[in-house]
Amino acid sequence: MSFDLLRHEGIPASYLQQTEADLIAIIEGVKARMGSRLFLPAHHYQKDEVVQFADATGDSLQLAQVAKQMTEAEYTVFCGVHFMAETADMLTDASHTVVLPDMRAGCSMADMANDTQTERAFTILTKRFGESILPLTYVNSTAAIKAFVGRHGGATVTSSNAVQMVKWALAERDILFFLPDQHLGRNTAHALGIPLEQMAIWDPIKDELVFDGEDQDVRVILWKGHCSVHEKFTVGQIEQFRKTDPERKILVHPECSHEVVAASDLNGSTAYIIQQIEQAAPGTKWAIGTEMNLVNRLATTHPELDIVSLNPFMCPCLTMNRIDLPHLAWALEQVEAGDPVNIITVDAETTRHAVLALERMLERS
Ligand code: 13P
Ligand code: SF4
Repeated sequence: MSFDLLRHEGIPASYLQQTEADLIAIIEGVKARMGSRLFLPAHHYQKDEVVQFADATGDSLQLAQVAKQMTEAEYTVFCGVHFMAETADMLTDASHTVVLPDMRAGCSMADMANDTQTERAFTILTKRFGESILPLTYVNSTAAIKAFVGRHGGATVTSSNAVQMVKWALAERDILFFLPDQHLGRNTAHALGIPLEQMAIWDPIKDELVFDGEDQDVRVILWKGHCSVHEKFTVGQIEQFRKTDPERKILVHPECSHEVVAASDLNGSTAYIIQQIEQAAPGTKWAIGTEMNLVNRLATTHPELDIVSLNPFMCPCLTMNRIDLPHLAWALEQVEAGDPVNIITVDAETTRHAVLALERMLERS
């Protein structure tokens, strides 16, 4: 088997041999014939070749908020990663079918917390700190983790509403348990005035709480997870720009480390980054610390600005990039034939609890 075929395991080889023009014709044809029976949302980190066909584009929050539009269709072909398609399935009717064009489009951060580890951690932490812990999970987590959080009175969070949600959690209970992205948790709690000295780290591999101070000082417990794309941005890259190009504004996503966020000029969710660029004065210079497809798209769509990536080697999300023209064409033709592949379904019990966590977020967003 060729390297290309190995890379695209699951998809019939014929799709990999089609020209770009043929694949585009297939996708346009299915979309035109299926009309409103089909909904195609795409995350901002998707490739341009996919985004061009999107019925809605957005960040994680916006894509959760379009669930109603999905329900009005028969099928959603989700151009994003696995946890987003799970959320779409959980927020839509049971009769609605959600398809992920490539099952390998996962998220390495979501894979850093499983339900067994989470239950174990919560048992240990509750024994140590009592019942005063409220869990919040970044939506970049499995449905099982969302269900765990829902069962314990907590909610999901996206980078767009993290401030509101963390504020709410800290008002509800004494200690916030934030999964699975330590950086978003730390950056958000710090922005709300919680000192770093009151934040502990839960290491799920060692089953160990990392904290220097006294237990009574713990206000936030951060799961030791991170995004493999955003961790590639460093303070060194920012310092380099400060030296060589001091007028360039540094704009980063809060999945970057606290040191990077602290050294930047501005930080915020994907939607915030887009908004800052849309409002920027012509001629201004920007170095953006987020996923490469979005940075490239912003640079192309805003020729009046000078936009570069904060990382000179750029940072693609490899799993987001797995959705491409061949997989989209394949998924759509299968849907039209009434034989969908890569259906994402979350069982009813998990959905029941996870939806509680999602609804607590949606009603506060
Ligand atoms: P947002 O869409 O919430 O900005 O999150 C970015 C991300 O990493 C999605 O996987
Ligand atoms: Fe996961 Fe990071 Fe990719 Fe988002 S950018 S899907 S958090 S690995």
